[in-house]
Order: sequence, then structure tokens, then C-alpha cells
Amino acid sequence: MQTPRRRPPVVGTMTRTTELRQLHPFFVGELSGVDLRALDGGGIDEMRALMDRFAVLVVREQPFDDAEQVAFARRLGGGEIVTKVGRSVIDHAARLTEPGMTDISNLDEHQQIIARDDRRRMYSLGNRLWHTDSSFQEPIARYSMLSAKEVPRVGGETEYADMRAAYDALPAAMKAEIEGLRAFHSIIYSRSTIGFTDFSDAERALFPGAEQPLVRVHPGSGRTSVYLASHASHVIGWPVPEGRILLRELTALATLPQFVYRHTWRAGDFVIWDNRCTMHRGLAFDEATQRRDLRRVTTVDVAPAAARA
Ligand code: OGA
Ligand code: MN
Repeated sequence: MQTPRRRPPVVGTMTRTTELRQLHPFFVGELSGVDLRALDGGGIDEMRALMDRFAVLVVREQPFDDAEQVAFARRLGGGEIVTKVGRSVIDHAARLTEPGMTDISNLDEHQQIIARDDRRRMYSLGNRLWHTDSSFQEPIARYSMLSAKEVPRVGGETEYADMRAAYDALPAAMKAEIEGLRAFHSIIYSRSTIGFTDFSDAERALFPGAEQPLVRVHPGSGRTSVYLASHASHVIGWPVPEGRILLRELTALATLPQFVYRHTWRAGDFVIWDNRCTMHRGLAFDEATQRRDLRRVTTVDVAPAAARA
């Protein structure tokens, strides 16, 4: 007997038992009954098509080890993976040895909870601000993929916001105002907004920042998105305070509750998001007593999304 939520089978090596449902009115698909490691080429194509449609995919019960997660990311992304950030400032002293894997945990190399005032934790707190990954470098990130190994009993959810729906809902005057604008993105800037200024000269040199269009057309879906992040510091060619106010206003509009999906993690969850048309942020949890072990791989947007310049 089919349950009402069951959809027709999908192609590739996704099987008749694969189920797909939508978790939010605008975006976020949930897949269950599939092992992503076993997908053939057709299955990978189908995953990309699902990403174009849903922008965020929650895939349940994925038993990836680190090498398998990196290998899957390379296949899905069809190009390079991001390594620069993960191996520098927030390197948890090689808790994770797989190159290309970013440690999104509160654990150190001895698998112990890191101290409250640990520099790695201070830096990671920046993930609580709405952002999209790697907007401060060129090329930007395409897909990020988080694998949940250990999750807190309470809290530590991740929120996602749909920047396509947010763009669609903007007043016409705002759409006209932001058309063709560019913003400067810098991780040095976004960390400074929470009082983290503890970057070495070498780190500053590693993160010079990047200019990005404020409006993007997604090549896969043809949909227009606002492209925002906590990293966005100012609008190119505008007085800094005026641009910063515009970015704050836009961010407030783009993250209104109707555009947001809150993901409550289960161990084994694998969540993929498209950084070109979504934002995300982590939520608080009791970091003194709760362990949270998430591991991320991010792919590079090698063929940059068409920008409306
Ligand atoms: C990330 C991120 C937020 C979270 O992995 O890129 O921002 O909930 N994570 O940990
Ligand atoms: Mn992030």
C-alpha cells in the first residue's frame, strides 16, 4: 500500500522505495529510502534537478564516512570543492583528516567539547548570522552538504531561507532599486560585527573579500534571487552607511518567517543546499554539555551563475 505522501519512483538508482516530499511551501525537499553512495549518473542528474527545484534537500539516513562524503560532493558538484576556509582559521587541529572537509562541530581533536572562549568557537559563532557560504571569495560556493554524526538533544537546528521566494515578494520599487547593484563581501567584516577581530596578517591576506551582484539569476531554475550574507559589508559606489542600511533592510525582508525552514537534525541526516539562492544560520544549543558533530563539504561554483549586471 502506498502512503499518500509517496510519489512516483525517481530515476537512476533511486528505487521504488525512495520517497520525496516537500517540507516547506516554497522549498526544501526530503528524500528517504535512498543511498546516495549508490547513485548512477542518472541519479546524480536527478539530484541536480531536485536541487534546482527545492534549493535544499534533506536526505535521511546517509551512512557516509568522510571520504565517501567528499567523493559524493565531487560527483554532485561536478568540479572542485572548497578547501581554503576549512583548512585555515577553523581547522580543529585535524580532528577531521579528509582534505576538503570543514569541521562544523563543537569538538576538538580529542573529541572533547571545546572551551567556551576557544578561538575556533568564537570564529564558528559567526555561523549564527544569516549567510551563504563563501560569498566572500571568488568563485563562490555552489552546494554545501552537511552530514550529521552527533546532534544535541535540544537546539542546534539550522535555519534556511529561500532567496528566490524572498526576491519574488519584494516590492517592485525595491526590485528596481537593487537591479544591477553589487555588494562587497568579506568574512573579516562579518566576524567583526560580532566582535571577532582576532585575524592574523596571514589570515587577512587569505580573505581579501569579493564583490558580488545583489541579484542573481539561477542557471538551473531560471529563477531570480537576492544574493545576501552577513559577509555583505556595503554596496559598491554607495556611501557605506547607506549601503549597509539597504543590506540590513533586505536581509530582514528576505528572512521573514514565511521564507524560513527550520531543520531539526537527526543523526544520519545529510542536508544539501544551494548557496546561490538560499541563506542559512545555525541556532544556539547548550554547548557546555551537548555534543554536535556536523561535517561539511562545499563545492565551488565553477561556471558562475549568471549575474544581472
Ligand atoms: C555551515 C553552517 C550552520 C550550523 O555549515 O556552513 O553555517 O547550523 N552551519 O551549524
Ligand atoms: Mn555556512
